[in-house]
Amino acid sequence: MDKSLRKTILAGNWKMNKTRPEAKALIEGIKPLAENADCEVVICVPFTNLETAVEMTKGTNIKVGAENVHFEKSGAFTGEISADMLTEIGVEYVIIGHSERRQYFGETDETVNKRTKAALAAGLKPIVCVGELLWERECGITEEVVARQIKLDLFNISAEDVKKTVIAYEPVWAIGTGKVATSEQAEEVCKLIRDTLAKLYSQDVANAVTIQYGGSMNPANCEELLAQYDVDGGLIGGASLKADQFGVLIAAASK
Ligand code: PGA
Repeated sequence: MDKSLRKTILAGNWKMNKTRPEAKALIEGIKPLAENADCEVVICVPFTNLETAVEMTKGTNIKVGAENVHFEKSGAFTGEISADMLTEIGVEYVIIGHSERRQYFGETDETVNKRTKAALAAGLKPIVCVGELLWERECGITEEVVARQIKLDLFNISAEDVKKTVIAYEPVWAIGTGKVATSEQAEEVCKLIRDTLAKLYSQDVANAVTIQYGGSMNPANCEELLAQYDVDGGLIGGASLKADQFGVLIAAASK
């Protein structure tokens, strides 16, 4: 099988970090490091930094993503942002269903599915996050949990649209904890995700979908994780906030 059937995508998830001046400095730092990247480089930034990021990355190969999107087109949803609002300012990607959204903001597979459909309908590329809790891994139900999330989160999404969707496997116990999944664990679950996609759609569709690993990926462990057959890049939190570290990851993903 051929890994070049799909794009390697390295995406930074800045979470609730960086004021505008701080964001400008970080983007200036990333730009030269991304110049010769042989992978797609995405920075997912807080809403207040989106316009700045889009402006500053014009003419570069860095793409900009948001960290969430609402599923309705408009209306009385105080504090929410629609997909059209994002595309209108030039945003191309959006993270959906991050475990922090599921854990702290009541996000469910149903709302993840609705947000994913809304993003696709507006022409955004969703990065849909799935992954098991530590307790679920210890109980030996990782496969069931992740396959269930994939089925629910992608419910009624066409094969054409699923090819535009990025899946990020992020074991919840590895996010921001410094506890990284071994490359075998990452490959095992990313392969399970691809097999689930093959059952739901077809092997051809499954082969075309980018599946990232996320959770404490850093300059020391990225090479081994990114070398796995079913790992097509990463979703990076902490290490995306420092240009030099993110640069090492971009270089590793370009190999
Ligand atoms: P981390 O975050 O790299 O800081 O573990 C990853 C993520 O939450 O996407």
